[in-house]
Amino acid sequence: MGKSGVDVTLNGLTKRFGGRTILDGVNLRVAAGETVALIGPSGGGKSTLLRCINGLTPFDAGEVHVGEHILRPAKAHHANTDAIRRLRQLLGMIFQDFQLFPHRTALENVIEAPIHVRGLPRTEALALGRRLLERVGLADRADFYPQQLSGGQKQRVAIARALAMQPRGLLCDEITSALDPELKGEVLDVLEGLKRDGLTLLVVTHEIGFARRAADRVVVLAEGRVIEEGPPAEVLDRPRTERTRLFLSRVLG
Ligand SMILES: Nc1ncnc2c1ncn2[C@@H]1O[C@H](COP(=O)(O)OP(=O)(O)O)[C@@H](O)[C@H]1O
Ligand SMILES: [Mg+2]
Repeated sequence: MGKSGVDVTLNGLTKRFGGRTILDGVNLRVAAGETVALIGPSGGGKSTLLRCINGLTPFDAGEVHVGEHILRPAKAHHANTDAIRRLRQLLGMIFQDFQLFPHRTALENVIEAPIHVRGLPRTEALALGRRLLERVGLADRADFYPQQLSGGQKQRVAIARALAMQPRGLLCDEITSALDPELKGEVLDVLEGLKRDGLTLLVVTHEIGFARRAADRVVVLAEGRVIEEGPPAEVLDRPRTERTRLFLSRVLG
């Protein structure tokens, strides 16, 4: 890729659902090229946080900065449309359940956005698609349909598809949670390669081993607040809060 990552900053990000505060003034900066592991108990707001950054969910207060693009609260959400479109080209998002088109091959899934969003000619998109499938170790699966692929292979197709927009960062929401243990590694290895390439990665994960190995920083989100953050060795081995200790003992136990 060769391009550097993108800077992502949240200032006082606040999100309510039906009167309940789900994100309570979250401040977070992920520097260009940094890998941050976002951990914390279920229901703590991790997915909502990623969805707000990506413009999938409008929010109530605060700001999201992605590179030069700024998202503002829901009342002005329509004013965000253009920023969201451009922001998503800088920052891709990958989900636990892959969200591939079932009736398209791996290659067709990857070339969809380059053709329809970036306006790439089909021959160029095909060449790009093949390069990206090779990069995630799936050169020989280009013509397979999702149902013919393992979960780990499907997730790698989803990563290739996100990379086809040539983003400078990725938001990953528990992308190995649906995978058998022996397939998690092949997906996490791809992420580590992207980190080496300098992409900004904000990764929601329960893979504590991955967080320890690959993250520059671990951030703990609970009940809509950042309760702890720091280098993996600090947060994972010497957590300061009881909440974090409890969470870690559950995922490691
Ligand atoms: N669309 C929604 N409508 C109402 N409540 C929601 C919605 N999405 C998420 N929530 C609530 O927000 C809280 C945080 O959810 P989520 O962001 O999915 O947490 P996590 O990813 O950390 O498990 C949960 O209590 C969840 O029920
Ligand atoms: Mg979640």
